[in-house]
Amino acid sequence: MSAPATGAEASGAVEIHVGDNLDVIRGFADGSFTLVYLDPPFNTGRTQERVTETARAPRDDRAADAVVRRGFHGREYERLRGDLRAYGDRFDDYWGFLEPRLIEAWRLLADDGTLYLHLDYREAHYAKVLLDALVGRDKFLNELIWAYDYGAKTRKRWPTKHDTILVYVKDPDRYWFDSEAVDREPYMAPGLVTPEKAARGKLPTDVWWHTIVPTTGREKTGYPTQKPEGVLRRIVQASSRPGDRVLDFFAGSGTTGAVASALGRDAVLVDDNPDAIAVMMQRMPQAAVVRHGGSPS
Ligand SMILES: C[S@@+](CC[C@H](N)C(=O)[O-])C[C@H]1O[C@@H](n2cnc3c(N)ncnc32)[C@H](O)[C@@H]1O
Repeated sequence: MSAPATGAEASGAVEIHVGDNLDVIRGFADGSFTLVYLDPPFNTGRTQERVTETARAPRDDRAADAVVRRGFHGREYERLRGDLRAYGDRFDDYWGFLEPRLIEAWRLLADDGTLYLHLDYREAHYAKVLLDALVGRDKFLNELIWAYDYGAKTRKRWPTKHDTILVYVKDPDRYWFDSEAVDREPYMAPGLVTPEKAARGKLPTDVWWHTIVPTTGREKTGYPTQKPEGVLRRIVQASSRPGDRVLDFFAGSGTTGAVASALGRDAVLVDDNPDAIAVMMQRMPQAAVVRHGGSPS
């Protein structure tokens, strides 16, 4: 864990970049973000289209292969990636799309930085194994479970009502983590602790019970995959300081940016979907919008 930053000015500025995230983030400087949060799409028609257009393009494959050869955990990673192809085309396509973006995310992380990768049960375990091999198992910090209870419940198996967020740190000896800054939660059995403790609440563990975005109310933007501010707030509070830079290049409705800005961090958001850009511009009217070559206006 590193020492507190000195002289950092809290500002809360937001930049929204419009364009394919791989092209956009390639232009950002090494080590320029303390926190990178990613919530990529999985198994949508759109993702599948993109795979054909983007991840299989020779440029992406060359970049990923070069980095894997140059370092990270080359041979082990290549072997695992090969083994996991057997799992099926869908995951292979997904990882082919994600891999060059994760390699860039890792490059962009500062030495005291943290990567949060938000996944669901379909991909979390494979992604964990691959990420361990890609960046090193010693960089793994946590597996967060975000549990919610909403919507229809199947009667044929245990209804799946959680997401998994994998957390990796760039340098296990230097990463920033401030548990004191995190929103606390009610004790499950407040009668078992002192009234002072009960009033203060308890530090969250790695299992977070939190509602989905309420279907009515201030927070709802109407963007289909919007994540709750409460979940993002904990992440931003723990893994960045006021004045730090936070990146989300699957920004969607801009939850990461809205939360980071309110907490005095500078946020950089990227998305290529015009609907997402419109939602973000309405949600963060103060944001600067940067359009990259060929992106929709
Ligand atoms: C699951 S959503 C993110 C939701 C977000 N966490 C929120 O709270 O609203 C994933 C987003 O990634 C965007 N996306 C997918 N592929 C992209 C790409 N290649 N470049 C830029 N954005 C992309 C989609 O448009 C979508 O808005």
